[in-house]
This record gives sequence, structure tokens and C-alpha cells, in this order.
Amino acid sequence: MENQVESLVKLIKQREKEARAKVLSFVSGKGGVGKTGIVTSLAYVLANTFNKRVLLLDCDVALGNVHVLLGLSPDKNLKNVLKGVPIEKVIQNVYNFDVVLGFSGIDGIDELESLETANLLLQIERVVENYDYILLDNSAGLNRYTIGFSRAAASTYVVTTPEPTALTDAYAFIKSLYKLYSYSNFKVIVNMAKSRREGFDTYERLQHSINRFLGIDVTLAGIVPYTNRYREALRKRVPFVELYPSDSYSVEIKRIAQLETGQLLKEEESFVEKLVKFFFKGE
Ligand SMILES: Nc1ncnc2c1ncn2[C@@H]1O[C@H](COP(=O)(O)OP(=O)(O)OP(=O)(O)O)[C@@H](O)[C@H]1O
Ligand SMILES: [Mg+2]
Repeated sequence: MENQVESLVKLIKQREKEARAKVLSFVSGKGGVGKTGIVTSLAYVLANTFNKRVLLLDCDVALGNVHVLLGLSPDKNLKNVLKGVPIEKVIQNVYNFDVVLGFSGIDGIDELESLETANLLLQIERVVENYDYILLDNSAGLNRYTIGFSRAAASTYVVTTPEPTALTDAYAFIKSLYKLYSYSNFKVIVNMAKSRREGFDTYERLQHSINRFLGIDVTLAGIVPYTNRYREALRKRVPFVELYPSDSYSVEIKRIAQLETGQLLKEEESFVEKLVKFFFKGE
């Protein structure tokens, strides 16, 4: 089983290179730090602002809740894929991106054990060329799923909050993946920051420990602010960026997408450009 996963990880990485699709994994040490909200908004922005072909996979085995944020019912879900149904039959399109929903509840630990990560990796490998980005929303903490998915990813985004417990757990996650598999493609997102300063200090503390004890560096991908409007988007079951595109939460998600794609956002036309168009070009 371990060897099978090993060769699939290699295969996916090879196909990623050929197809130029990027697999990005979103993880955290501690739960409830905002991964699902961030990854859902990022899928939305990559598809709608950057015109990318995006597949969002809810890899939170047993407690998946992407469907809640997107207002979908999870009838077709990841469990079907893990049990062998072709991924194409389970993919749904919403807000211009594709999604494979997760599932909540599991009949017992035996069932969890029998679900095949290898099978899912194989299925991802088949559709990788249909997308520019494949985003994986993982469960919190280290387990064989988060390890398997993150190792197959070009980058792993570690989400943390400024809370010391979240930070300690983020460090533990990075340390384990690095020590066990020499994996070091980490990017850090600090969520629920009360200020840019607090977010930056949080990142600096993490980077400092990682550099000192592991000898590697992690890049800062974004500082997502705490927002009182979050609950409203949840209540309406609409992605936050769709409901509040100008909120600083959404602006930061766009900045993260911009950094990831290396593409600049099309700037709003300036006042002078609008005047030139009106007076000289008759538009
Ligand atoms: N930037 C934010 N501002 C305010 N509240 C937030 C923000 N981000 C997340 N939250 C709150 O945190 C809760 C958990 O968010 P989310 O479900 O995205 O976390 P998660 O890391 O995916 O959790 P899990 O580990 O259970 O998968 C949200 O329901 C919301 O109440
Ligand atoms: Mg989640």
C-alpha cells in the first residue's frame, strides 16, 4: 500500500509537470483555523478573476463541509470516489469551478481504514490535465490522508491563526512532513489576524522556529484579516468573496491568488483612461 502511494505520488508530480496543472494542498495543525473558507474563496477567485480551470476537492475524510459553504447537498461525494466510482461522475460545477464534495459521518473506524487514498490519487492523476489548479481542502492535523495529499502537491499551504496553540501545531505539522519525507514546499497563511502587524509577527515566529530547528524557510502567502461579516456569508451559504468582494478578507484572497499565479489583476481603468476613451475614442 505504502509503495503504491509512493509511485502514485511520483506519477502525479510527473503529470503535473507535463500538464502544467498545479496541485495545492491546504492543511493546518489545529482545527477550525479557516482552511475551508480560504480554499473555497480561493477556488472562486482563481476561476472568476483569473480565468483558471479549477477543481476543488474536499479531502476532509469524515468531516467534509465544503458543501455547506457552497450551498450544495453532498449526495455525490468523495466517499464514492474512494470506493471506486470514476471521479468524473462525482464532479459538480458551481460558480465556474468544479468541485468534489466531502462527506460527513463515517460508519466506523474500519470503514475509514478501508477507504483507499491510493484510489483517489489515481483518479486525480486521470483528470489533472483538465485543470490549471487542483485545490485540496484537508482535515486538520497529521494523518495518512493529509500526508498523502500534501506530498503529492506542488505546494502545501499551512493555515494558522495568531493563537499560540495553532502556531505550535502548525510547526509540528511542518516538522513532521519535513523529517519524515524531506517535504519542504510550504507556504503560510495567517488567518483571523486582527492587524497586518499581528499577522506578520505570527509568521515571523513560525519562520524563526522552522529556520532555527529545521534549517528550512517557509514563505508568507497571506495575512487574512478577521471579519465580522464571515457569519453572514455562512448563513447565506454563499462563498464570502461572492457576497463581499471588496471586504479586506476578499482583497487578501485575491492577493494570494495573484502571488500563486504570478499574474497581475487587471487594474481598474483610471479616471484619465476613462476620459480619454470617452472624448477621443467615442466609447
Ligand atoms: N477570517 C475570518 N474571520 C472571522 N471568522 C473566521 C475567519 N475565518 C474563519 N472564521 C471562523 O472559523 C470557523 C471555522 O472555519 P473553517 O471551517 O474554514 O475552518 P477549518 O480550518 O476548515 O476547520 P476544520 O479544521 O474543522 O476543517 C468559521 O465557521 C468561522 O466562524
Ligand atoms: Mg475544514
